[in-house]
Amino acid sequence: MRAKFSALLLPAIFVLLTSAQLFPDPATYVLKDKFVGRDFLNGFNWETFDDPTHGRVNYVDKNTALQRGLTSASDTKFFMRADNKTMVAPGARGRDSVRITSYQAYGDGIYILDLSHMPEGCSTWPAWWSTSQQGPWPQGGEIDIIEGVNIGATNLASLHTTPGCSMPPYRLQAGTAVSASCDTSVNSNQGCGTSLRYGTYGTSFNVAGGGYFAMRRARDHGISVWYIKRDPFLLPDGPDPDFLISRIPDASFPTGNNCNYQDHFNDHNVIFDLTFCGDWAGSVWGTSSCANAAPTCTAFVDNNPSAFSNAYWEINSLKIYTPVGPPLITP
Ligand SMILES: *[C@@H]1O[C@H](CO)[C@@H](O)[C@H](O)[C@H]1NC(C)=O
Repeated sequence: MRAKFSALLLPAIFVLLTSAQLFPDPATYVLKDKFVGRDFLNGFNWETFDDPTHGRVNYVDKNTALQRGLTSASDTKFFMRADNKTMVAPGARGRDSVRITSYQAYGDGIYILDLSHMPEGCSTWPAWWSTSQQGPWPQGGEIDIIEGVNIGATNLASLHTTPGCSMPPYRLQAGTAVSASCDTSVNSNQGCGTSLRYGTYGTSFNVAGGGYFAMRRARDHGISVWYIKRDPFLLPDGPDPDFLISRIPDASFPTGNNCNYQDHFNDHNVIFDLTFCGDWAGSVWGTSSCANAAPTCTAFVDNNPSAFSNAYWEINSLKIYTPVGPPLITP
């Protein structure tokens, strides 16, 4: 069986690669918005609501975050971190942290993040993602570009949608499909995730000096996610749209009959957050080696402030390119 499949797949992959070169993306991309250092302070809103994913977290407003050092910015850097100084009282909402949402919403385009460090460690659940400005969730869709929990080393890129969106088993992607249905009402909202390779998440990502993540939304292709290794010699300015389009994505979510793009995705706000425990990190605590450190995820968060010294985002830039040029042909 296996040999038979490979024999069938190889020519198919060859045809796909060849056609990608013969019929390049008709769009040209231009830089629409760029956030570096203090730009984040003006372009994003600091959310203070209870974490919708039930984390042991207390999201603080912008002034509080700046005062307590949970947010800092310079000309070239933007930091968002967890509080690593205080114990959390039993009755409290959770450990102080930050969740920010872009004021602007964006649609089709290429989003490129230059990241030096992502939050790591037991109980952490950081994410870089986007979701519909109009909603209500999951209408208009959710795209998770960076996501993982606890001491994981592989990033999960995923979509969450209304019913009627699933991904085909064979796709041109470097990562490994974890689940096919993007419908939030299926599999306890697991989403249609693709797991990226080792080194794309957590400590393993940080020890390499971070790297780049990029996401493309295109109504005639679907959604793609790339992880690009940091390489000051080959890519001193990081990847640009042409570089990305020429590479096989790490995660590919083709849209079409399997998932109508227009029905499931509209303009999204961009979100960075850092929660603890909750629906994902908390629910797998018992099967993680983190369980050796505390009986429950919540107990760990409450009683081990210094364990959060590496629970921080260090962002160099976020660039959002949008397509211009000949109108895209859509059926
Ligand atoms: C908190 O974390 C920062 C670095 O992320 C570190 O410099 C500082 O010493 C830590 N504080 C405590 C009390 O652990």
